Amino acid sequence: MDQAKFSEDTAGKVITCRAAIAWTTNAPMSVEEVEVDPPKAGEVRIKVISSGICGSDNHALDGTFKVPLPVILGHEGAGVVESIGEGVSSVKPGDKVLMICVPQCRKCDSCLHAKGNCCLKEDIFSPVGLMLDGTSRFTCRGRKVYNFVGTSTFTEYTVMHEISVAKIDAAAPLEKVCLFSCAFPTGYGAALNTAQVTPGSTCVVFGLGGVGSAVVLGCKAAGAARIIGIDLNEGKFARAKALGVTDCLNPRNFKKPIQQVVMEMTGVGADFTFEVIGTIETMVAALESCNQSYGVCVIIGVAPAKSQLSFDPAKLLSDRTLKGCLLGEYKTRDCIPLLVDDYMKKKIDVDPLVTHKLPFIKINEGFELLRSGKCIRCILLF
Ligand code: APR
Ligand code: ZN
Ligand code: ZN
Repeated sequence: MDQAKFSEDTAGKVITCRAAIAWTTNAPMSVEEVEVDPPKAGEVRIKVISSGICGSDNHALDGTFKVPLPVILGHEGAGVVESIGEGVSSVKPGDKVLMICVPQCRKCDSCLHAKGNCCLKEDIFSPVGLMLDGTSRFTCRGRKVYNFVGTSTFTEYTVMHEISVAKIDAAAPLEKVCLFSCAFPTGYGAALNTAQVTPGSTCVVFGLGGVGSAVVLGCKAAGAARIIGIDLNEGKFARAKALGVTDCLNPRNFKKPIQQVVMEMTGVGADFTFEVIGTIETMVAALESCNQSYGVCVIIGVAPAKSQLSFDPAKLLSDRTLKGCLLGEYKTRDCIPLLVDDYMKKKIDVDPLVTHKLPFIKINEGFELLRSGKCIRCILLF
């Protein structure tokens, strides 16, 4: 495609295209025409090429993750820059980019801190669904439509802030690398950056979905000797073992709590445990499954709105560490393109996480695959 010409034709104009609108929770989204405004200063309009469907999109659709409605969901996208707003300097029309829900403004306290990655410009913890100027770029049937965590990838075109757009290798296959916008760095970074898994260690991964599978890849890359995978869906076990899980457990097959089973299997508890489901019960089980002294438990799952985690504080007094992480603690625009480079060099592989591909218009089928546990990651192609 002649990208420069393509951009000239549409730059500065409203684009009418198809998007999946979630009008309410707990109902299928409807694919319909939307108007996408041109990008304002500091913004980028992107032609979406692919998007994964993540557990967090499903949490938003089932109402456990509260977001303003109507909304265009999706936050695991890859695409091509169509046009840019005033002052945008890090990308230009035709660039291949990832659409990442954690921005990196490079100016705030978190971005300037050596370890911080939770940019203060994020719209994740109490989403308002609007651009930083308080307005929306999407209209459907005359109604304003909200964005989702600054990304909105379930649309043929979206508008994002430059600070959330990461330029990647021009040779990267856009129909595959969308997983680098969420699932892969979230899980892989939780193992490598947050837990800092050590060679020869024992790890436990609660939840063997898309993100949990990426945790497994990270534990394996760090040299873990034993990786115990826990899931209610035994259909996930064969693939998990192929990725590096050494023992698979279904909590329903035991009369005692799963943390007790892990304690007995390991003798002393695991070195590192990861919660990648998003329930309070499994968070407590993950904490109680790690060694009471040197064990590290990392929370990655998104718990239902307003829920509270409660456990006996003595679990920490003994020296355990409880941590959480957002997008694997990567400084997103700086580090995630480097992960794509490693993928291009075949140093890391995300392809085994992709079990299904569907045309965008079959998005509701994709959600059904996720909910039924039949897929690890389903990628929508536009
Ligand atoms: N015990 C064990 N496994 C469970 C339980 C449970 N109580 N409940 C669900 N699971 C399993 C599911 O069978 C599924 O395999 O957890 C897995 C969750 O995976 P996905 O639905 O594919 O979700 P994923 O995209 O991996 O996200 C997992 O991380 O980023 C967050 O918001 C996301 O909270 C979500 C979590
Ligand atoms: Zn996600
Ligand atoms: Zn910042």
